[in-house]
Amino acid sequence: MQNNVNQLPRLTDRLYLSAPHMSGKEKELLIDAFDSNWIAPLGPHVDALEKEFAVQTDRKHAVATSSGTAALHLALRLLGIGNGDDVIVSSFTFIASANAVIYQGARPVFVDSDAKTWNLDPQLLNDELTQAAAAGKLPKAIIVVDVLGQCADYDPILEIARRFEVPVIEDAAEALGASYQGRPAGAFGDMACFSFNGNKIITTSSGGMLVCDRKDWADRGRYLASQAREPAPHYEHSEVGYNYRMSNLLAAIGRGQLSVLKDRVDRRREIFDRYQSELGSLPGISMMPEPNGFRSTRWLTAIEVNAEQFGASNEDIRLSLEARNIECRPVWKPMHMQTVFSGYRHVTNGVSEQLFSCGLCLPSGSAMTDEQQSQVIETIIACQ
Ligand SMILES: Cc1ncc(COP(=O)(O)O)c(C=O)c1O
Repeated sequence: MQNNVNQLPRLTDRLYLSAPHMSGKEKELLIDAFDSNWIAPLGPHVDALEKEFAVQTDRKHAVATSSGTAALHLALRLLGIGNGDDVIVSSFTFIASANAVIYQGARPVFVDSDAKTWNLDPQLLNDELTQAAAAGKLPKAIIVVDVLGQCADYDPILEIARRFEVPVIEDAAEALGASYQGRPAGAFGDMACFSFNGNKIITTSSGGMLVCDRKDWADRGRYLASQAREPAPHYEHSEVGYNYRMSNLLAAIGRGQLSVLKDRVDRRREIFDRYQSELGSLPGISMMPEPNGFRSTRWLTAIEVNAEQFGASNEDIRLSLEARNIECRPVWKPMHMQTVFSGYRHVTNGVSEQLFSCGLCLPSGSAMTDEQQSQVIETIIACQ
């Protein structure tokens, strides 16, 4: 690393990896919810957001939840996953994908990524299911993650899952607005889950969504998410549920955000394109691939750094950006490398470990200015 990076001034205002980006419409809708006194959980904005979201994801039903994690947990409950069941989970993900499996007393089986997509490797999935079938213990579900804004390779994945008759939950928390072979993220598998937490492409501060095509699942999802309250004037319960529904106030924000989703995707892609044109051809830097037929949102621009060729490592770059008050983050540490999951089975090919060793997510928020992006780029160039 050369010294010139130390000469760059520290920014007064911190530049975040992916800050919330309101459009103005959220405030109007929020005031409407406030003035109507629908402050309680549920209400007309929740109903409207569910309808609008189902259209966006090409699904028949959507159930608004308090978080993406809650949506994943509900999905597993709906599939009847329980004690001792195996559930395949993409290893290269945020921990929530796997935690939901643990909440149900089931066991995650971590499967590695395909270098072409950074998502679940269809070949490894096929090998694992073939072996599990031969051993007479197929997993009860597969959680396929659409990582960093890009869908997994669903044509082969769904063909394999169908052949072994194992249901698929698409964890599209990071990929709202992406598409694969012309279909939107969320349209794949038996159910899909989304997150609207503060760093996602659209946010309700905290929130999530479960989408599916089966009305009985959507109805039961709403019921389980409302403490499994039976229809009776008093409080009647015959099974354990959760307090997992979204509030009407947050749904109002969500509707405003959803109305500008296309602009948010376009801007993130524009940010990626500029990183690619100014950094992508430097020796030792490569960008997350986007194969034909995939359209990523580029939720986070992710790069791989070959330290020898570039002259600085991903961690050197991160520290240099941090010194200037710019947030950037390593890519996900694979679940099979996490101490908390050390006792669980994993099927690996080295891809996610390699990504973790050299990957880096750059500031990618749609509200970032061109000048702020220049500051990120000049810092990285100065690290060489
Ligand atoms: C892949 C993935 N799954 C699930 C979640 C959980 O969403 P939430 O934070 O809304 O619970 C997130 C984000 O946090 C995520 O990135």
